[in-house]
Amino acid sequence: MLDISEIRTVEHDVLVVGAGGAGLSAAIEASSHGLSTGIVMKSLLGKAHTVMAEGGMAAALANVDSRDHWKIHFRDTMRGGKFLNVWRMAELHSKLAPERVRLLEEWGAVFDRTKKGLINQRNFGGHRYPRLAHVGDRTGLEMIRTLQDHGIHQGIETYMECTALDLVKNEKGEVCGIVCMWRESGSFIIFKAKSIIFATGGGGKGWEVTSNSWEYTGDGYALAYEAGAELMDLEFNQFHPTGMIWPLSVKGILVTESVRGEGGILLNSEGTRFMFNYVPERFKDETADTEEEAARWLAGDPNARRPPELLTRDVVARAINEEVKAGRGSKHGGAYLNIATQRSAEDIKKKLPSMYHQFKVLAELDITKEPMEVGPTCHYFMGGIKVDANTTMSSVPGLFACGECAAGMHGANRLGGNSLSDLLVFGYLSGKNAAEYAAKKGSHDSLDEDQVRKIIRNATDILNRESGANPYLLHETLETNMQEHVGIIRSKENLEKGIDALEKMKADYQTVKAKGASQFNPGWHEALAMRNLLITAEAVARAALQREESRGAHTRSDFPGEQDEWLNYNIVSKKGADGNMSLSKTERLKPDPEMERIAKSTIEDLEKEIAQEQGKVGAE
Ligand code: FUM
Repeated sequence: MLDISEIRTVEHDVLVVGAGGAGLSAAIEASSHGLSTGIVMKSLLGKAHTVMAEGGMAAALANVDSRDHWKIHFRDTMRGGKFLNVWRMAELHSKLAPERVRLLEEWGAVFDRTKKGLINQRNFGGHRYPRLAHVGDRTGLEMIRTLQDHGIHQGIETYMECTALDLVKNEKGEVCGIVCMWRESGSFIIFKAKSIIFATGGGGKGWEVTSNSWEYTGDGYALAYEAGAELMDLEFNQFHPTGMIWPLSVKGILVTESVRGEGGILLNSEGTRFMFNYVPERFKDETADTEEEAARWLAGDPNARRPPELLTRDVVARAINEEVKAGRGSKHGGAYLNIATQRSAEDIKKKLPSMYHQFKVLAELDITKEPMEVGPTCHYFMGGIKVDANTTMSSVPGLFACGECAAGMHGANRLGGNSLSDLLVFGYLSGKNAAEYAAKKGSHDSLDEDQVRKIIRNATDILNRESGANPYLLHETLETNMQEHVGIIRSKENLEKGIDALEKMKADYQTVKAKGASQFNPGWHEALAMRNLLITAEAVARAALQREESRGAHTRSDFPGEQDEWLNYNIVSKKGADGNMSLSKTERLKPDPEMERIAKSTIEDLEKEIAQEQGKVGAE
């Protein structure tokens, strides 16, 4: 029998899994309560996927346009999320984002500046005013550098290249530990913790075309699900409209929305600026309807409405898809994105340095002279682990979640830039609440050895069986299946085909075999990640089949348009007693009437109200 006492065991009050913006923010906050805090990551510190978030973090600082306010940010977020956001989360986010961004500045983040020396803010899709605090087009990188520097100096312990396998619970069903594996040596490590925070990001690696990096294999969703937690809203996964499409070796890599924020326009093969033809009714009053008006907006006319390229991502991604289907796609099957005709070469190199280099190096193309070719790429999961809005605790006591792996904040569609500020706000709230939970808990639970043994056996069986399915081939089959059957446009027929294929893959996975020994064995790592990807993919496909409407990032060709009835429900998935995934249509919490009023106000009324409030504040 496996002797657990031989395995290194480490204790922390709070353990964070994932070292992106959310994980680092959570760890910093938890450790600031004087608790022993550890942070486990699959990759190296500083290399989390957050570094790929380019354009900026949304917060109503009102540095560039003084009309901005948390209420307008909140209204934009709810409208962008098609009102399916957890109201309280969107409220907390828009209220707390400005102070979290300022704190990041205090900790040393070197933001771009306005002429007055304030944090500069740029335009992004769905945000009424320039709202994204940014550092060129490398904002995520600056965020990570700042947070890791701050966190390390505060004494957080880091465990790098360490993969989380599964959670351990006590007899009361509370989380009390987690078993992990060192990727380099293949040996195991056990963590005892009084509370655990998942900040594990998304699961885009299940799709063929994705902006996600290798870490994004849905680990948090799957581990939480296996531990009995509820997942919510998984049908809403966002296709960012602009990923690179050529050359094939770089297909899917993000082309930041900042290109459009800085004035970039989308053209089809006939040279038509097609986004004017795709403005949804809800956004007509806020969107320019001529090129002249859009040009005036770019020149800074405060009375001009925003160009249609800055509609929300779901709208732009579907529009590109439609143009390609209609035979008006670019040479390699996407759209042309042109900034060269809109901005000077000097401006482009200054505001979009990474994009300039990315296309120069990867596509041999000079974006200051030529248009880019772009197309939709699987980018972000709005759904995830269901959490309490105020505490961020999941339905499993002691397990908290924040950032992309948590559900609710973004509803049916996320606005660009709301992700980085989400990481700061909910990372902080998770850290605070997990610390308070841990502080109340007293001593560590002793871990149930049978659970630990089972987790280790599940992992080593993959190496020890004689033969079986190849994890790389399984992954390829999964990507093709999800791209084809659970993509931007869905239908019952396609989703059912996708689910049938997933059932077959799940059966194959039971025999998955990685060749070689346990020391740095990428095949083994791939096989371990495949379990998580399959759970994630199944939750997405089944929820997408269940939601019979089109809303935000979830488009059903057989159920076009939003259905009012569906606005009352989330789809919640859970591991059933029989071991199968069970889904339920769960009634949503009613909004606070005041928040509902703000989100549904006309922009004119809301701005009048804010001006009055600010006038009153000034007079007091
Ligand atoms: O387009 C971008 O720069 C991505 C930002 C985001 O997803 O928030």
